[in-house]
Amino acid sequence: MVTTRPLTLRSYTSSAMENVFWQAVHVMGNGIRTSGYTDQPAAPQIWAFRGARGAASSAGGGTNFQGLCFRPAYTRSVSATVRGVMNGFEQGRVAARRDWAPGLITLTVDAAIEPFNPGQFVNLGLELGGQFVRRSYSIASAPGAPLEFYLKEVPAGALTPQLTRLEPGASVWVERKPQGFFTLAYVPPCRELWLVATGTGLGPFLAMLRSAEIWQRFERVSVVHGARSVAHLSYAEELAALGAKHTGRLSYTQLVSAGSPGSALPGRVTTAFADGSLEARAGLTLDPERSHLLLCGNPDMILEVTAVLALRGLRKHRIRTPGHITSEKYW
Ligand SMILES: Cc1cc2nc3c(=O)[nH]c(=O)nc-3n(C[C@H](O)[C@H](O)[C@H](O)COP(=O)(O)OP(=O)(O)OC[C@H]3O[C@@H](n4cnc5c(N)ncnc54)[C@H](O)[C@@H]3O)c2cc1C
Ligand SMILES: NC(=O)c1ccc[n+]([C@@H]2O[C@H](COP(=O)([O-])OP(=O)(O)OC[C@H]3O[C@@H](n4cnc5c(N)ncnc54)[C@H](OP(=O)(O)O)[C@@H]3O)[C@@H](O)[C@H]2O)c1
Repeated sequence: MVTTRPLTLRSYTSSAMENVFWQAVHVMGNGIRTSGYTDQPAAPQIWAFRGARGAASSAGGGTNFQGLCFRPAYTRSVSATVRGVMNGFEQGRVAARRDWAPGLITLTVDAAIEPFNPGQFVNLGLELGGQFVRRSYSIASAPGAPLEFYLKEVPAGALTPQLTRLEPGASVWVERKPQGFFTLAYVPPCRELWLVATGTGLGPFLAMLRSAEIWQRFERVSVVHGARSVAHLSYAEELAALGAKHTGRLSYTQLVSAGSPGSALPGRVTTAFADGSLEARAGLTLDPERSHLLLCGNPDMILEVTAVLALRGLRKHRIRTPGHITSEKYW
């Protein structure tokens, strides 16, 4: 039996030190070895190990071991011995999939993970060509509901071409401990909350909108979803129904940047904030005294919207210097 405890080193940046650990230190103890990291790090971690050799290796025996191991969030080789100790991951099963458009899906996954707050994410992983490939995904479901992920294929990506092809019954590794600070707990008191997403950045907002807290804390909520085409406006029916349920408190604004926008606003969220058309459509005006914005998805959108809103007196929220904008970049 091997148990591990992750101590996340979020501020870790030294690549020289990383290489030393990377090449030399993986697991302290006999019988388990990982090697061949081949990808970029997402969230380097130090792992504390405690366990018994034999439970994890096929060699048997009962030698106890413990120690620390630097474990960058890399793709890693998956040997038969390591497979049994996919540390921190639970083997889940795809329970259902919904296809919104080619390459754009929602997966429902059966996996026993730890409790989470709406807005948090977990890593999903697959064994691909002898490597364990994992990436972060926001949980789109409310706590207690079947675990749901809103996913887009990045055609040249390492994971999503396979992840978005999983069918019901397929195995997928799910990180047991949800992570992240993109939650309502970090939003300062205010009256009006804007949830601004591009693409699958809608995921964490779905989890929030499907939970009770948002309706207890904010007088008004404005959901904004920017997508390339009408076909990419997933969850439109559910969001429209929520709007009807919370009439006068929830507005749902769609933007479509290419092709016919239908009833959506044309263009990007940046231009629609800049020219006032977004606030007009939402029926709500941004005000530094009342508003907080959560931005999620495309990193350029986050930078550009932040710059546009600075002209309106809204600035990034930090614990030491409270502001109005909190964001989660997807890449
Ligand atoms: C906290 C967090 C939560 C996330 N939640 C979700 C989620 O709920 N749903 C979701 O679909 N993705 C989400 N992502 C993005 C996800 O982690 C992966 O980056 C993405 O799925 C691509 O993985 P990949 O291995 O296929 O591509 P990679 O091999 O990692 O990337 C290939 C290239 O594509 C670019 N790229 C990465 N992601 C995207 C993207 N989404 N669109 C366009 N280009 C991209 C990268 O810059 C890179 O150059 C989240 C990321 C973070 C950090
Ligand atoms: N989303 C999908 O359903 C899907 C599925 C499979 C593959 N893909 C491919 O993946 C790539 C990106 O996918 P995506 O459309 O989900 O992601 P995206 O690039 O985040 O685009 C989503 C929306 O955000 C807009 N946007 C992009 N940059 C912005 C910025 N700086 N400021 C404001 N808005 C910005 C886009 O407008 P613009 O259109 O003007 O860029 C689009 O309306 C594309 O090559 C796409 O073909 C997408």
